[in-house]
Amino acid sequence: MINVLFVCLGNICRSPSAEAVMNKIVEDEGYSDLIKTDSAGILDYHEGEKADQRMQKHAEKRGITLTSVSRPVKIIDFRKFDYIIGMDDQNIHDLMSIAPDDESKKKIKKMMEFGSGKFNLPTVPDPYYGGEAGFELVLDLLDDTCHGLLEYLKKEHPDKFNA
Ligand code: 4NP
Repeated sequence: MINVLFVCLGNICRSPSAEAVMNKIVEDEGYSDLIKTDSAGILDYHEGEKADQRMQKHAEKRGITLTSVSRPVKIIDFRKFDYIIGMDDQNIHDLMSIAPDDESKKKIKKMMEFGSGKFNLPTVPDPYYGGEAGFELVLDLLDDTCHGLLEYLKKEHPDKFNA
C-alpha cells in the first residue's frame, strides 16, 4: 500500500477535495488496492466537521462527493504515511516544523509540484474567504495535480504498479 496524506490549514476545503479527487482518479484507473489516502489540517479548529458546504457544492457539480471529517495532523501521521502533501507554503513550513525527524521531513511535498505546468501558480490558494471562483480554481488545480501525483507514484514505485 502507498499511503498519502493531504494537508491544508483547516481540513475543510482543499485537503478534503484533494483526497476525494485523488480517490476518484485512483478508482477510475483501478488502483484502489494500491493507494490509500486521507486528509488532515494544520489547525484543529474545525475538528469533527464535514467539508465546507461551498466546497461540497462545487465538488458535487463535478461528480465528486466529499466524505472526510476534519482532524488535525498528528505526529504519528509521519510514520503512517509515505507522502504528506501540503497545499501552500505555510502548510509546508508548519509540517516541517512538526516533523519529528529527517525521514519524516523527506515525506513532505507541495501539491503544485505535481502539476502539469498549465496553471502558472506556486500553490493551491485558500478559498475560504473568497468567492465561487476560488472553489472552482481549487478543483481545477487538484484535477491537474492529482493526475500528476498518480504518474509520479507510478514512477516512484514501478514494482508495485507492474505487479
Ligand atoms: P482549508 O481552508 O485550509 O482549505 O480547509 C480553510 C478553512 C478554514 C480556515 C482557513 C482555511 N479558517 O481559518 O477557519
